[in-house]
Amino acid sequence: MSIDIIDFDKPVPKHVAVIMDGNGRWAKKHGFAARLKGHEAGAETIRAVLRACDNTGVRYLTLYAFSTENWKRSKTEVAGLMELLRRFLIKNIDELIEKGIRLRAIGQIDRLPNGTRKELERSIEKSKHNTKLDLILALSYGSRTEIVDCIRQIASIVKDGKLAPEDISEETVKQHLYAPDIPDPELLIRTSGEMRISNFLLWQISYSEIYVTPTLWPDFREDDFYEAIADYQNRSRRYGGRKN
Ligand code: IPE
Ligand code: IPE
Ligand code: MG
Repeated sequence: MSIDIIDFDKPVPKHVAVIMDGNGRWAKKHGFAARLKGHEAGAETIRAVLRACDNTGVRYLTLYAFSTENWKRSKTEVAGLMELLRRFLIKNIDELIEKGIRLRAIGQIDRLPNGTRKELERSIEKSKHNTKLDLILALSYGSRTEIVDCIRQIASIVKDGKLAPEDISEETVKQHLYAPDIPDPELLIRTSGEMRISNFLLWQISYSEIYVTPTLWPDFREDDFYEAIADYQNRSRRYGGRKN
């Protein structure tokens, strides 16, 4: 299997969102007591997926890296993940920039530990002029929180008399989400077999095609990404209308 399974005469998704799951199971399977070993291996997968995006022309890649709920994990795991992210940025940002990648983040970034947040902000700033691929990291992200934040903003505009309730549209909502300029993902991938959304992009995935693979995130490679795109190309997207 290779990139040849993709039909470049058919549309390739512009935006792919990924729930990177299964790092803990991978660590266990390989006999590591520390779940962090799985997270470290998972960080390498990100590089492979970025290459696959480059090869297929995907324009936006959103990665669910840390959810609001993940703060409930052990102190050791949370600290390890935050340090891993900081080191990942230091190690990779120059190469990402060379490849034309713009780094972005969605979520409650101010909850991240200082060192990680600063490195993230530096990387975002450094890469902001790139236009080839937007890599959006969902960090301390929860979709319900995003929607609550959005409702608060709209309510305050209404309260100030600048918007009538009957003028609130789907577009108004979109404009107050964390990244209004990014189109909805056409394809959502979840690794390691779980058939759930886990509070990810609830508004944005209304009509996304969902692809769940049993492969654990640290084992996921370019070919797995190509397989997901090829599978997407064989779906019939109807949006509630009739089948052509
Ligand atoms: C996904 O892997 C990474 C994060 C949620 C940060 P998990 O850590 O959830 O791995 P499993 O689901 O326990 O295998
Ligand atoms: C979803 O994975 C969050 C991320 C991948 C960052 P989880 O492992 O946290 O989700 P649940 O607990 O299986 O729903
Ligand atoms: Mg998990």
